[in-house]
Amino acid sequence: KSITIVTRSGEERTVTASPGLSVMEAIRESGVDELLALCGGCCSCATCHVYVDPATVESLSPMSQDEDDLLDSSEHRTAQSRLSCQLKVDELPGDLQIQIAPED
Ligand code: FES
Repeated sequence: KSITIVTRSGEERTVTASPGLSVMEAIRESGVDELLALCGGCCSCATCHVYVDPATVESLSPMSQDEDDLLDSSEHRTAQSRLSCQLKVDELPGDLQIQIAPED
């Protein structure tokens, strides 16, 4: 599966995501370092916030209560918001397009 990433400055890059990774790890592996992912993927920092394209967001695996609560702490939450560390490449319905959310 491929992930197309739009950075905060509008730069776009498409990477092939390795199975077994989270989307956050795949983004970091692609060299996009503006996704801080401070907690390393344990769903406690919300610095891996991304916007998923509207066509796909509904078909992703549902978010946990923890993810929901953390996203609520972001002033940039939208209906397209997800924490990328909580999305598994293996569970994606297909290719993914995401945009890195602004820093809180
Ligand atoms: Fe911290 Fe996702 S990396 S919540």
